[in-house]
Amino acid sequence: MARRHLGASLASVTKALGQWEAGWRSVQAEAKGPGAHFSKPEHWDAFYEKKARATTDPRAFEWYLDLDEAGPEVIAALRRSPAPTLNPIPHPNPRRNLNLDDLDLGMEVLHVGCGFSGLGAHIASGLGPPTRVVNVDAAPFVVAEMQNRATTQLPKELLKRCRWESWDLGTTPAAAAGHKASYDAVVDKGFLCATLFGGYGHAAVCLWGCIEALRPGGVLLQIAEDPPEQRLDLLRAALPSRSWEVTSTALEGTSGFTYYLYGCRHITGTLSSRCAVVSDGDMSGLVACIGIDAGEVVMEERAAAVWPEPNPFTIQRGPGVHLELAGDMYFTNHSFDPSCEVRFVEDDDDLTLQLVALRRIEIADAITYNYETTEANLMAPFVDAATGQPVEGWSETPST
Ligand SMILES: C[S@@+](CC[C@H](N)C(=O)[O-])C[C@H]1O[C@@H](n2cnc3c(N)ncnc32)[C@H](O)[C@@H]1O
Repeated sequence: MARRHLGASLASVTKALGQWEAGWRSVQAEAKGPGAHFSKPEHWDAFYEKKARATTDPRAFEWYLDLDEAGPEVIAALRRSPAPTLNPIPHPNPRRNLNLDDLDLGMEVLHVGCGFSGLGAHIASGLGPPTRVVNVDAAPFVVAEMQNRATTQLPKELLKRCRWESWDLGTTPAAAAGHKASYDAVVDKGFLCATLFGGYGHAAVCLWGCIEALRPGGVLLQIAEDPPEQRLDLLRAALPSRSWEVTSTALEGTSGFTYYLYGCRHITGTLSSRCAVVSDGDMSGLVACIGIDAGEVVMEERAAAVWPEPNPFTIQRGPGVHLELAGDMYFTNHSFDPSCEVRFVEDDDDLTLQLVALRRIEIADAITYNYETTEANLMAPFVDAATGQPVEGWSETPST
């Protein structure tokens, strides 16, 4: 499948961060003091070796915030914003009752600059199967040590969904490292902070690695010590607002320090980015990628054609007026307890069909409407698998 443009490039990220250099570097230097070594993998390798020798405490070493402080915030943010991992669509048969329980709707998460942090395993455990987390770091010692510790300490089921790999984002592009466009979410706790000590060019390359690892519609979460007047502005400068929604939340640590959770969500630009087509290999259907409130438009599309008779792709507007669906709305399944209804919006000569939420829809809930309400006489009646009731249309009388 062709990859959609992320609305940013390494050059644009570097340029945007470069423009910050003069103003921000002085604030940074003042706040953090000199610390170029924090951006160097050799420093981290030595640091972690020392840490591992100094303590036999099996608990992970956490920067900034402990797991019970950072974990719930990160998991809540992931639940709010992910695009579920999508299965390929083997064949486009939308008919009619897809069993979502059989589908793999977990997230693929990349935990960058993981160090000794247990955040990756915490996310895998919190989101549950089949979510998988790949933890990467440029310091080979900590990667090997974490994989070893996980092998002896993590429950088998959790271990299957977590792994640790070496990846220096400053030197190896996402594609070369095998991570390009592979994740629904990238999570960074203190990673970009460390790379910023190596200068804006270096940080831009590392930030770009995170962006390139995301699938379209994915989310980058960062926990940082930098306050919004620095980091939020930097992210907004690096990621064009047209394509990215950037937010911040203050997190109060028990240490007395305030840290921040930054969320950068890639907006794919269409309403259909709110839902995705999934398939069990035989049937296809739509599921929500984000939480959607009652009354919100889930997706909309223009009628591709108007026919006097129904066909398998049509929704009836009135007697002898059947609007043909040509976009993703075609994949919507039928339900007698639907999550959405179809509305028509007329604008000059255009006729648009909208799917509107009838109730709150949670991530991975099915997007459905009641076919009995959208054609008087379905061209291909069928039996609803959930109720055993026939689905034929609202009238026995031919509509035309
Ligand atoms: C401040 S520590 C944070 C560690 C961990 N996330 C935590 O919360 O405890 C920064 C981490 O980023 C890693 N790092 C620094 N530069 C890196 C790079 N270019 N590529 C990958 N990891 C890097 C370091 O090895 C270190 O583990």
